[in-house]
Amino acid sequence: MTHRIRAAIVGAGFIGAVHAHAVRAAGGVIVATTGRTPEATARAVEVLGAERGVGSMAELAAADDVDVVHICTPNSTHAEMAEAVLAAGTPVICEKPLATSVEDARRLTARAAEADVLAAVPFVYRFYPAVREARARIAAGEAGPLWLLHGTYLQDWLAAADATNWRVDPALGGGSRTFGDIGVHWCDLMEFTTGHRIVRLAARMGTAYEGRGGTEDGAVVVFETDQGASGSVVVSQVSPGRKNRLWFSFDGQAASYCFDQEHPDSLWVGGTAVNRVVMRGPDTFSDAAAGYARLPAGHPQGYQDAFNAFVSDVYAAIEGQKPEGLPTFMDGLRAAVLTQAVVTAGAEQSWVEVPAWNWDS
Ligand SMILES: NC(=O)c1ccc[n+]([C@@H]2O[C@H](COP(=O)([O-])OP(=O)(O)OC[C@H]3O[C@@H](n4cnc5c(N)ncnc54)[C@H](O)[C@@H]3O)[C@@H](O)[C@H]2O)c1
Repeated sequence: MTHRIRAAIVGAGFIGAVHAHAVRAAGGVIVATTGRTPEATARAVEVLGAERGVGSMAELAAADDVDVVHICTPNSTHAEMAEAVLAAGTPVICEKPLATSVEDARRLTARAAEADVLAAVPFVYRFYPAVREARARIAAGEAGPLWLLHGTYLQDWLAAADATNWRVDPALGGGSRTFGDIGVHWCDLMEFTTGHRIVRLAARMGTAYEGRGGTEDGAVVVFETDQGASGSVVVSQVSPGRKNRLWFSFDGQAASYCFDQEHPDSLWVGGTAVNRVVMRGPDTFSDAAAGYARLPAGHPQGYQDAFNAFVSDVYAAIEGQKPEGLPTFMDGLRAAVLTQAVVTAGAEQSWVEVPAWNWDS
């Protein structure tokens, strides 16, 4: 890094604080933030440790001492904020979902291309070394062709009848709650790790509690990929005891690979004779994966470390490097396309074709 990246962060809740740690871990400094009111701005300055608060998003986007803006606010605010940042020609990290409609996501992706600035979306599970290890082994053909891609993303923070959050309101969260919030992470991880693209899917949306915002508490999605594999993912925010169980199994003829986000420092490699739990370490993981090790083997790495690695790669890209596997607005658009397909399939109770690449649709 030639100079300390000067970041602005908008949104000082759960993920804003995670971004703030990651900015500092990457050697950056948080110069500015803004909130909906002067009081909220003052609170955000304190929570994020920002140098100053400014009066509006427009002011923030126009500031000439900001190298990158991190958007960490509720979903429905992303499109307008990201558009303002891109209009100023400033690099942007916009939280997922990039937008609550395919149309907005496509417009933002086009704007980012026109502005020719780095525009990233934090699909941060890509940055676990164990995920990179699975990806490297799959690319090397260790398993043979993958034919079955399955998994879950289960949480329980909406298990109580009276539990609520802005995500429950479609006007803030979007038309799909659980798939749009966490299903997109699983699908991004699957497509990134395996290289397969979903081309067709069916979905059943489920509700544990009727009337909670009218959006799904969970979904079961069945899909086919462009390489002929079959797959399924179950997502839920009402699965008592499951906190953040993002889990996958990608199965080939000669091996299967399992990853569990709640135990992220190892990769399970299944074989017909022997199963192995491969721990992160310089002698166990390939170079592509070991490069994401931030701590010596045996010192567990977790979510914040993955987030730090993501932000560090974004900043490297802003400075002209080309880190591998950086999730961009194109991937945010992909997530919007998949979310729309899941909503349509759930509503129509039929299979829906999904373009393998965003611009075909
Ligand atoms: N990539 C990930 O792994 C990940 C994880 C969690 C959340 N997220 C995403 O991050 C976003 C925020 O989620 P969260 O869990 O931090 O929510 P949160 O409710 O904890 O925080 C949202 C923050 O935004 C502020 N805010 C709301 N409207 C604003 C506005 N107009 N201007 C400025 N500030 C405003 C709120 O005051 C609050 O501080 C969501 O889009 C969510 O999907 C991503």
